[in-house]
Amino acid sequence: MKADLAQAIKRCSKPERVCMAVCYDEENSRSNIITLGWKMWTSLRPRMIAFSMVPTRHSHHLLMKEKQCVLAWPGEDMVKGVMLCGTASGRSVDKFKETGWTPLPARIVNTSLIEECVVNLECKLEHTLVTGDHTLFVASVVEGHVTDDKRRVLFTIKDEAHFKHVGSQKGYNFGAFS
Ligand SMILES: Cc1cc2nc3c(=O)[nH]c(=O)nc-3n(C[C@H](O)[C@H](O)[C@H](O)COP(=O)(O)O)c2cc1C
Repeated sequence: MKADLAQAIKRCSKPERVCMAVCYDEENSRSNIITLGWKMWTSLRPRMIAFSMVPTRHSHHLLMKEKQCVLAWPGEDMVKGVMLCGTASGRSVDKFKETGWTPLPARIVNTSLIEECVVNLECKLEHTLVTGDHTLFVASVVEGHVTDDKRRVLFTIKDEAHFKHVGSQKGYNFGAFS
């Protein structure tokens, strides 16, 4: 055991399931998608989930305004779109149009599900906490949707065994359980 904070954080951070948040953008009359790595369940009863965003993200502004979103888990076949949603800003790009993904109406919240995703959760924002350079959003999960196909969800990975490498872009390596 040696003291090395940077290595320690690297070693315990991956693999990490990737998800995306979809927020309604009233000004542009469309829903916007942001790729997220940092998220966690925080309660079963009620069902609560938390995720972190940098305040300069367009999605941060949208979520603070609308106070609701969809969290969507992409399949192993969706790397290209996940990177587009994780590098372009919704201020200037229509990400549904660019990815070719299909927006579906949610049942409760005012934004879109992503039809191509494996799981979509409808969420209502309950709490925010500024923790440093990210804001932690805590949301209640009010509805869930799941595909009946067998695609696996996507992770960002390092070089873990038991993961099938499914793509790399801009320093990120993506994988799914093999
Ligand atoms: C794999 C991956 C994970 C990411 N995780 C986060 C995250 O947890 N929080 C965050 O604020 N940005 C994260 N980003 C960066 C945002 O997705 C990116 O800045 C995006 O372009 C913001 O879009 P927006 O301005 O339309 O909201 C991640 C990007 C990638 C590629």
